[in-house]
Amino acid sequence: MATLTERSGVTPSSALDIERIRADFPILGIHPRGRPLVYLDSAATSQKPRQVIDALTRYYEEENGNIHRGVHYLSELATLKYDETREAVRRFINAESVNEVVFTRNTTEGINLVASSYGQKFVRAGDEIIVSQMEHHSNIVPWQLMAERTGALLRAVPVTDIGELDMNAFESMLGPKTRLVALTWVSNSLGTVNPVKRIVELAHARGIPVLLDGAQAAPHIPIDVQSLGCDFLAFSGHKMLGPTGVGVLYARADWFNRLPPYQGGGDMIETVTIEKTTYAKAPSKFEAGTPAIGPVVAFRAAIEYLESVGLDAIHRHEMALLEEATARVSALRGIRLIGTAPGKAGVLSFTMDGVHPHDIATILDQSGIAIRAGHHCTQPLMARFGCGATARASFYLYNTMDEVSALVAGLERVREVFA
Ligand SMILES: Cc1ncc(COP(=O)(O)O)c(C=O)c1O
Repeated sequence: MATLTERSGVTPSSALDIERIRADFPILGIHPRGRPLVYLDSAATSQKPRQVIDALTRYYEEENGNIHRGVHYLSELATLKYDETREAVRRFINAESVNEVVFTRNTTEGINLVASSYGQKFVRAGDEIIVSQMEHHSNIVPWQLMAERTGALLRAVPVTDIGELDMNAFESMLGPKTRLVALTWVSNSLGTVNPVKRIVELAHARGIPVLLDGAQAAPHIPIDVQSLGCDFLAFSGHKMLGPTGVGVLYARADWFNRLPPYQGGGDMIETVTIEKTTYAKAPSKFEAGTPAIGPVVAFRAAIEYLESVGLDAIHRHEMALLEEATARVSALRGIRLIGTAPGKAGVLSFTMDGVHPHDIATILDQSGIAIRAGHHCTQPLMARFGCGATARASFYLYNTMDEVSALVAGLERVREVFA
């Protein structure tokens, strides 16, 4: 099989200084099972550059205090740092105001917040919420819980054989009963990049708000929420070089003021008496209790790292890796690719005849290669493709063509073991 460079003349690392990038990620130097780490599981969680690790350490060594409540030096410093990350997020997604940015624990919490608050105020029995067959469970189960409380109905847009949303079906599902569209931007199991701009246009033409699950988009795709026009966007810091424990829920313009609070507690109030509470304005209204201050502060370093490398360059690099991996893995005997939509993100999902995906992942792990096997929290999608599980390799800015070769060699070994 010809390499990508031989086939198209593209030098994959031309867009990025890959050696310099890799030197920023200390964990890439470890040797699990005595072999160099080949980390192909960034869709589950990304690795962290030194800049983020240092920011987290510095926070606990020099800046730690509780935010918003003190007049002392550390409280003021922590508050300042926390708010600086909010501004960095605003810039990163081009939100109009920092008041449209709420920190959550992760994507899951952001979606649960909208399902709970929006459901309480705007959804009634017989109303419909539109999701799709390719959603992560975190964009299905919160709506089911809300539907159980309100009597609403969940409808799922079907997925085509190559793993795209059936847009004709989507359009025909939009109707007077539709209260909200909640769809993923990028599928974690297929890599499909959905036509989110078109989705928002179609829904808005009928006055229907749109929530986008941006968990797999924010790490890879430049985001401009003002030009996109979505009403809600949820994503996770840990998938985009940031620490675990911090996520973002963006809500356009006035939404946060129109929605009732999700959780009650400190920091989200204006006044409290035993009889009644009045609430603070957004974003505080949706940030009850002490948040993950250190991870939020360090998340800024992740955003700045992505900005300094450039999402366009990252995207080109991932596309080169994906093209190479797709050509070489699909040439192996007994491989079935799950998800072959054009313009995919850097996710390669596949099955191998006669071998369970968990066995593939276990054998690769013996060579230090980390991929994911399972249903990837997308059981309805697995059912759609008639497989309970897939093996999934996912690429990010620090992966190399040599690692693609290691994956292919590893899969050849799997084939031999199960010959
Ligand atoms: C598409 C998608 N949505 C939502 C999530 C949930 O993210 P988190 O576990 O960070 O809340 C994931 C995680 O893999 C995902 O891939």
